[in-house]
Amino acid sequence: MSDAYDFSERIGRVEPSATLAISNLAAEKEAEGADIVDLSVGEPDFDTPENIVEAGKDALDAGHTGYTSSNGIPELKEAIAAKLRGTGVDADADEVIVTPGGKQALYETFQTLIGEGDEVVLLDPAWVSYEAMAKLAGADLSRVDLSPHGFQLEPALDDLAETVSDDTELLVVNSPSNPTGAVFSETALEGVRDLAVEHDVAVISDEIYERIVYDAEHVSLASLDGMADRTVTINGFSKAFSMTGWRLGYLHATEEFVGQAGKLHSHSVSCAVNFVQHAGVEALENTDESVEEMRRAFADRRDLLVDLFDEHGIDVDVGDGAFYMMIPVDDDDQAWCEAAIEEASVACVPGSAFNAPGHARISYAASEERLREAVDRLVSNDLL
Ligand SMILES: Cc1ncc(COP(=O)(O)O)c(C=O)c1O
Repeated sequence: MSDAYDFSERIGRVEPSATLAISNLAAEKEAEGADIVDLSVGEPDFDTPENIVEAGKDALDAGHTGYTSSNGIPELKEAIAAKLRGTGVDADADEVIVTPGGKQALYETFQTLIGEGDEVVLLDPAWVSYEAMAKLAGADLSRVDLSPHGFQLEPALDDLAETVSDDTELLVVNSPSNPTGAVFSETALEGVRDLAVEHDVAVISDEIYERIVYDAEHVSLASLDGMADRTVTINGFSKAFSMTGWRLGYLHATEEFVGQAGKLHSHSVSCAVNFVQHAGVEALENTDESVEEMRRAFADRRDLLVDLFDEHGIDVDVGDGAFYMMIPVDDDDQAWCEAAIEEASVACVPGSAFNAPGHARISYAASEERLREAVDRLVSNDLL
């Protein structure tokens, strides 16, 4: 074995994605013939709506197969800006970068804003990739734990105020939240705004689950007074339109930010896939009915799970959005999740992956029948 690969110190700072590790294990077991109820994946279980598929095919037939301008085709950037204006964000097409997935938009944002030793504040439980991306950029992490507050931000604003300071470079907000499903109130977001303005901090607002909201209202952080020139809004097509494999997302920020991040974008991915961008225009402009159908299906599944857990006396802090729930399990949530997959053939993600030990994340992007089956199996194996 040669020593030719002298791996960078940077790549040593991060671990592979814990959610993908579990779903890979579930896939391996399924390949061996096991019947696994896989509640580990962050992926809607619906087909991409037909009109979007047709738009993608039409774009291919029309020859939209070359590079596009780096930040995206004008029609899509305009459709994104119009969508943002619809949620009260003062957006212009020149303030948008279209990316291959929301993940790339986040990656570019961290790389653009964060250098060695810069402080990034995360709200725990936090989606796994924020920590990895922040560390790759060289950040020092500070964390505020929302777990004692039912995963809500409003009751944790005092803790946040103690953490955010003039030394903070960036705060990451994700509402509706992966992994908790929590939707932060307008008061909570105003609290974020006040701190961001007071300490001159930039904020990532990851709104990728924006269209999957139940008994609450989604508020775009950049729509609040004082936030327009310090927010990077992240969004994408994976969740709302069930387009995970198409890899399409975007960021919106000031034109100055887009100028800087656009350098990284052009030198790394060049552009998002051409015909996929055309399908994205169709998604934004003509898919409200399908989005609503999926949202209602998620709402029914959430309610079903709440009832099932209730029947078994399990108290869950249920969120008002996304398609995730954090359920309380053993202190050693890693061991619990291993037992869940080995003994009950149910795949969940350990809460520790999100800095919330003692919990497991369930994704309810699965049929009602499979959700019932999962709870039955966990109960009959004494895991719940
Ligand atoms: C909170 C959050 N942000 C961003 C993403 C990125 O999604 P994509 O790259 O598929 O657009 C995900 C995907 O799981 C997510 O859960």
